[in-house]
Amino acid sequence: MNALRRLALTETIRRGFLQGTVALPCKVCRNPALPMSTLPDTGTKMLAWQIDDYGGIDRFKLVEKPVPIITKPDQVLIKVHASSINPIDIRMRGGYGARLLNRARGVSKAGDELPLTLGRDCSGVVVDMGRLVKGIDIGQAVWANVHAASQGSHAQYVLVTKNDLSKKPENLTHVEAASINYAAITTWSAVYAVAKIRPENATDKRVLILGGSGGIGSFAIQLMKAWGAHVTTTCSASATEFVSKLNPHHIVDYNRPDVESELKRIGPFDFIYDTVGGDTEQYAMKALNKGSQYVTLVSPLMLETDKHGLVRGSLSASWALFNKNMQANKFGGKYRWSFAHPSTYALNEVAKLVEQDLIRPCVEKVFPFTELPDAFANIETRSARGKTVVNVVGQELKVPKSADFYMS
Ligand SMILES: NC(=O)c1ccc[n+]([C@@H]2O[C@H](COP(=O)([O-])OP(=O)(O)OC[C@H]3O[C@@H](n4cnc5c(N)ncnc54)[C@H](OP(=O)(O)O)[C@@H]3O)[C@@H](O)[C@H]2O)c1
Repeated sequence: MNALRRLALTETIRRGFLQGTVALPCKVCRNPALPMSTLPDTGTKMLAWQIDDYGGIDRFKLVEKPVPIITKPDQVLIKVHASSINPIDIRMRGGYGARLLNRARGVSKAGDELPLTLGRDCSGVVVDMGRLVKGIDIGQAVWANVHAASQGSHAQYVLVTKNDLSKKPENLTHVEAASINYAAITTWSAVYAVAKIRPENATDKRVLILGGSGGIGSFAIQLMKAWGAHVTTTCSASATEFVSKLNPHHIVDYNRPDVESELKRIGPFDFIYDTVGGDTEQYAMKALNKGSQYVTLVSPLMLETDKHGLVRGSLSASWALFNKNMQANKFGGKYRWSFAHPSTYALNEVAKLVEQDLIRPCVEKVFPFTELPDAFANIETRSARGKTVVNVVGQELKVPKSADFYMS
């Protein structure tokens, strides 16, 4: 075949592929006809919210872009039904963590990571998968987390790896499921991996959760209660009604002048889970017990590396960690950072608790996909009471079982 004919044939196949009339075998995915057989009517395009530059809400653009394609055998392509908004999305929109994340992305020149789609979690349906993915099938409803270095889930489709997902709890809608899984893997990392608290040793633990009204705190209260721990939490007075529905043993208003002595009176605590950070540490650490652990989600690592570069930033963050640990030691405890870490095991275990009704979704507000900037504004302008969720396909018409948690 001469070069001209070969070129013409290649072009015919390429066009047929894009129009859905030619099926190209895919070496890494199971579906030989990716993307034709599983993709929507729009062909190979999807809608995604993206930022071309770091900044405020005005940076969001709804764009049409190609549906991501599986390039590694452990990847899974999900049609997103719902995703949530997390504080990290707001920060990443402003450039938070770019230096550290660019390393994970393999980006050496600042700015080359853009455009970015945010969104760290989703609930949806598997539309394709690599050949190393076992235990799920195309069409399976899953909940998944998306690594911060990857393109996110505020889109109609997202690529994740097999360790980022598990089967969606059957008793939840996609909107409800998307409200849980990022809080779940974050809390699992802190509780199970860092503090080594397990269902089998939790019953004799006194636990303090700082910030019980937020997305993470409202999940953590339920997980610790489900495992039989004695749970105290802090929140503002206006959040007490919401938090009391989660049945912690004690709720303490963090604005009361005697918050420190009140926590000491209820404590001391074997495990303090800090979802707030900042000045809160000053009074909360004093309620530590001998041999107990203070695990915080609020670490200066990203901010320091953004400011000073990877080496100096990591060193200065480590120095801060060392000093905090010394402080905690005075009260007999240890001070640790914790980061959300994807885990199929964690998602499976949490799904079981959800299916037993021991953990319920706390959905504060649901926004349609087209109104994603309003969803961001919702959590940037007011205090969270559970989670804000984006409904991507608009199929959540039934009244959810957790309706009493819906705040609006
Ligand atoms: N390390 C990680 O990998 C990781 C992962 C996920 C989240 N995080 C971080 O964890 C934090 C919490 O996340 P989230 O999703 O739960 O946030 P969120 O949904 O925005 O909730 C924050 C909650 O904290 C409450 N709050 C504020 N100040 C407080 C205080 N001094 N004491 C007690 N409660 C207070 C707020 O309500 P009021 O204003 O009414 O008090 C709000 O309900 C964020 O900083 C987030 O970036 C880290």
